Amino acid sequence: MTDYEQFVGSIKRKTSIDLALYKEAQMKRRLTSLYEKKGFKSFIEFFNALDRDRELLDEFLDRMTINVSEFYRNGKRWEVLQNKVFPRLLQQNKKLKIWSAACSTGEEPYSLAMTLSNHVPLSQISITATDLDENAIAKAKAGIYPERSLAEVPKDIQAKYFDKEGSFYKVKDEIKRTVSFKKHNLLKDTYDQNYDLIVCRNVMIYFTEEAKDQIYDNFSKSLRSGGVLFVGSTEQIFNPSRYQFDIEDTFFYRKM
Ligand SMILES: C[S@@+](CC[C@H](N)C(=O)[O-])C[C@H]1O[C@@H](n2cnc3c(N)ncnc32)[C@H](O)[C@@H]1O
Repeated sequence: MTDYEQFVGSIKRKTSIDLALYKEAQMKRRLTSLYEKKGFKSFIEFFNALDRDRELLDEFLDRMTINVSEFYRNGKRWEVLQNKVFPRLLQQNKKLKIWSAACSTGEEPYSLAMTLSNHVPLSQISITATDLDENAIAKAKAGIYPERSLAEVPKDIQAKYFDKEGSFYKVKDEIKRTVSFKKHNLLKDTYDQNYDLIVCRNVMIYFTEEAKDQIYDNFSKSLRSGGVLFVGSTEQIFNPSRYQFDIEDTFFYRKM
């Protein structure tokens, strides 16, 4: 067994995170640069240290999760969501069941609430947002962001739903109230059912083909017929019909 394989086994026992389901070369590179920076010589040495040091464990989690996000990421796709996907879904169902999976620090579920608020009152909006990383969820709940995270936010939405505090922007409580955050591991936990919309973007790129296949299959089972999966802009699904998906638009898949 290699040094990395032993590390993968130890991390799984300690945290229930299975690194074997993430692309190996990429993950190994990220983690090697972290342990070398910390002065360790091998994955085993690194594990023994983080096993006893909560702060180092957090640094490891932070390095492996990659929390980069922004509001309205790939803005053109959000126009399609607003002008085509939401109107169709709302014709079928007045109160939509929505899941932002791997939501990181909250920009994505808050963008969903803001976009949907152009169609229905906020009191009718309720979004579940989940991530593996509890530190990211804590930041999401705080809802405070630097200006660069808002680059793609339409100006009217920025004026309506953010308060400027110093050099930061705070999401208004009326938007925060529409989102409930929870910890959820896409590779291990059970998936809720009957969603109208699942948004899962910029995380599948880190998983092995086998893990992706399982997750797409789970998403398909979690969507009602006619429901939509919205994926990231480098994450086109090869052969969507295999998961009972039709293409609704680029990066949007409709459950048959
Ligand atoms: C690059 S961010 C994507 C954030 C947002 N969806 C977006 O597109 O801007 C990837 C997120 O995936 C989360 N993640 C990684 N592995 C996960 C897993 N197994 N289950 C749930 N979330 C996971 C990370 O914690 C991180 O917050």
